[in-house]
Amino acid sequence: MKLIKVADYNEMSRIAADYVIDKLHRNPQIKLGMATGDTPKGLYRELISDHVMNGTSYKHVQTFNLDEYIGLSGRDYQSYRYYMDTRLFDHIDIDKKNTHLPKGDAVDEFAEAEAYEKLIQDSGKVDLQILGLGGNGHIGFNEPGTPFDSTTHVVELTLATRTANAKFFGSLDLVPNRAITMGISTIMGSEEILLLVSGAAKSTALSRLVLREIDEGFPASILKTHQNATIIADEAALQYL
Ligand code: GLP
Repeated sequence: MKLIKVADYNEMSRIAADYVIDKLHRNPQIKLGMATGDTPKGLYRELISDHVMNGTSYKHVQTFNLDEYIGLSGRDYQSYRYYMDTRLFDHIDIDKKNTHLPKGDAVDEFAEAEAYEKLIQDSGKVDLQILGLGGNGHIGFNEPGTPFDSTTHVVELTLATRTANAKFFGSLDLVPNRAITMGISTIMGSEEILLLVSGAAKSTALSRLVLREIDEGFPASILKTHQNATIIADEAALQYL
């Protein structure tokens, strides 16, 4: 994996935005894999800023998000659909029908997971997948122990992940117990991966990713075998390296 070292969160966000825009200009029909959580908020803020946008068109861009909570509709402000609409999609000229997330309110979540995987496979490869890093090494919602050959599936969220995400819900009780997530093999199938890591809270996870062996107990470790993966990490996250 390539490693780009940056000073702080804002620099990480700016460099990530330049990275994405550069790829988009080279390929206006790019298929972008999107992540949610705190980490990419700055990236999306940069992407919709006047100086980065600067006439960029997303008319032919398609997006595929990593995951969605089960039980939330896209109108629910805690849903990842709502997050993406309000932080990015509503501010760019992308065709909403080209923006894909698993449907959290699908009647049959297992059928929805299968359909989402098929949608990704039928569209060809995701060109650039943006990722954040869970404190326990999860990517998307692939918790420790998820098989590396997993495709899009329904997951029970661990207490650690629900606790980490309680900040968005106000209380742990309100965090859904389950989600639909791209699998690890789905993520690894993308042409290129950009992993964003910021802050001291991620420093142990980042050092484990870089220094330790590849194993299913730490899902992000598989990224080390990807042919084109880059980490952008800030000083606080890199403190043990
Ligand atoms: C969440 C999301 C991931 C995200 C990760 C890190 O649970 N499902 O897609 O990358 O955990 O979140 P954060 O960026 O808020 O630290």
